[in-house]
Amino acid sequence: MQATNENNTGAPGNDPLAPPHGHRWLWIALTVLLAAGVALAYLGWYRFLREEAQPAWVTATPEMRWKYGSIGAENDAGIPYWIFYVLPRIFPEKLPGAGGYASLGVAWEQGMELPIGFTKKTVGFPRVANTCAACHTASYRSRHDENPTYVIAGPGHTLNLEAFFRYLIDCAKDPRFNADNLMAEIRLVTELSFLDRLLYRFLIIPITQKRLLEREQQFAWLYREDFPPWGRGRDDAMNLTKYFMIRWPMDDSLGPTDMPSLWNLKKYDPAKGMRMNFAGDSHDPFSVIIDSALGLLGAAPKDNDEFLEQVRWIQGYVSARPAPKYPFPIDAARAEQGKAVFDAHCAACHASARTGTVVPLAEVGTSRDRLDTWNERAAREANRVVREMGIERPGLVEEPLKGYIAAFLDGIWLRAPYLHNGSVPTLRDLLEPPERRPSSFWRGYDVYDPVRVGFVTSGAEAERIGTRHDTGLKGGGNQGHAFGTGLPDADKEALVEYLKTL
Ligand code: HEC
Ligand code: HEC
Repeated sequence: MQATNENNTGAPGNDPLAPPHGHRWLWIALTVLLAAGVALAYLGWYRFLREEAQPAWVTATPEMRWKYGSIGAENDAGIPYWIFYVLPRIFPEKLPGAGGYASLGVAWEQGMELPIGFTKKTVGFPRVANTCAACHTASYRSRHDENPTYVIAGPGHTLNLEAFFRYLIDCAKDPRFNADNLMAEIRLVTELSFLDRLLYRFLIIPITQKRLLEREQQFAWLYREDFPPWGRGRDDAMNLTKYFMIRWPMDDSLGPTDMPSLWNLKKYDPAKGMRMNFAGDSHDPFSVIIDSALGLLGAAPKDNDEFLEQVRWIQGYVSARPAPKYPFPIDAARAEQGKAVFDAHCAACHASARTGTVVPLAEVGTSRDRLDTWNERAAREANRVVREMGIERPGLVEEPLKGYIAAFLDGIWLRAPYLHNGSVPTLRDLLEPPERRPSSFWRGYDVYDPVRVGFVTSGAEAERIGTRHDTGLKGGGNQGHAFGTGLPDADKEALVEYLKTL
């Protein structure tokens, strides 16, 4: 600098800090560039990363927060709000039925902008993402012309998750998924600013399409011709973990399970040898919630402390939530008789020290397909991935899977269809020998059947709304759990009456 000044013949004027004449253009250019850079960076941050808190009503009560509160999934897994909004208008034929996203069996409360478990949050621009409540909210009705009752932390037995995953990818693959078409449709519903229009057209739409198409590879097993669809209310959780979290190559396993209930989560006590998930893959609720939330985020959390605080809130919330009471009449005298049957034939597993622990497959005899989707090595690998994010948790069980958890039966009336893979439509059917249980039925319809205790699984409406479950197909077997199937009919009826009270 010194040398340059000396060599410079131009007068620097009175300002000792003024640059020498010969270099003034450079300084101006640099300053302008710097200013433009700062402005662009700010604009980029503002338009793509700036996080705005959700409106106050979302977090006003714990219920609202559970249903609509962001858990941070918008950053990496969010879909731009306006794209999400117009897709069903452009591609209605790719959805399972009429009525837009509602045809996916989401829990949609009257007057709400988005279904339960769908969040709207601005990260640069408004985005839509999901929470636990998308899969863990149950719905039931007593008649088809009644509004559904939504039960928080219940099993999302109506949700057609596979159809949702496939829908987004199928849209992105369609040549009509382009900026011209999407912008034209967006223009019909909102007026974006000039800058937003540019951003949507040249960045947000193409990037969204690219991201969705990238997922296609990871979802390849959903498109296999030789695999049956999951059907409503099921997802292939451990394969999702394998292909998304630890990014293993695809294998031939398929083991979709029912969405479980989360109410009364405090019943699980790892100190008593209890395990989580249908096959006892995980040590404790804290770990399962972390892993589930990471699945939703689709990436490492931005801030581990914030993330773990969110996890603890969720755990506290669902731990304290009671199982819902059976909403129809119960014959108390008969239920009393049923309790004696239960104590004699069921309590050894379902109301004892064995409850919540793994029963060997040979003893329970149900389908093994779910066990084959996961193994010890996968558990080690997944635990490593989470550890490397700087998150400490007891984690997944690093042992071979041996069987299924003897289920807690609280709120069992609302957890149909039954067994881990949802292969038995009603409690009454579960008390029939496997060969006499329905081999095909329709699942995902939410009108309740208080006689057989479960949902209605046949008839025009059930077939229109539901998906067909065929117990002969991979992952769908209804064998095993023959306990109580040899009882006299009167005992079975009494037992079912008692199960309604749990
Ligand atoms: C995409 C649907 C989906 C989402 C979203 C989801 N879960 Fe689950 N969850 C499942 C399924 C399916 C299982 C059963 C997995 C198995 O064992 O095969 C499960 C299992 C669980 C279990 C174990 C239950 C038990 O009794 O063993 C807990 C706890 C749980 N989820 C909590 C959560 C939380 C908390 C979130 C949000 C952070 C969440 N889940 C998000 C589908 C989902
Ligand atoms: C030897 C232990 C054992 C006995 C005895 C037993 N069960 Fe089970 N039960 C299990 C296991 C293990 C599962 C999980 C099996 C699966 O999902 O594949 C289960 C699952 C169930 C389910 C399904 C839970 C759900 O969320 O879908 C119901 C309902 C049930 N049992 C009721 C009964 C009744 C009623 C009796 C008595 C007649 C009984 N069980 C006797 C071990 C037992």
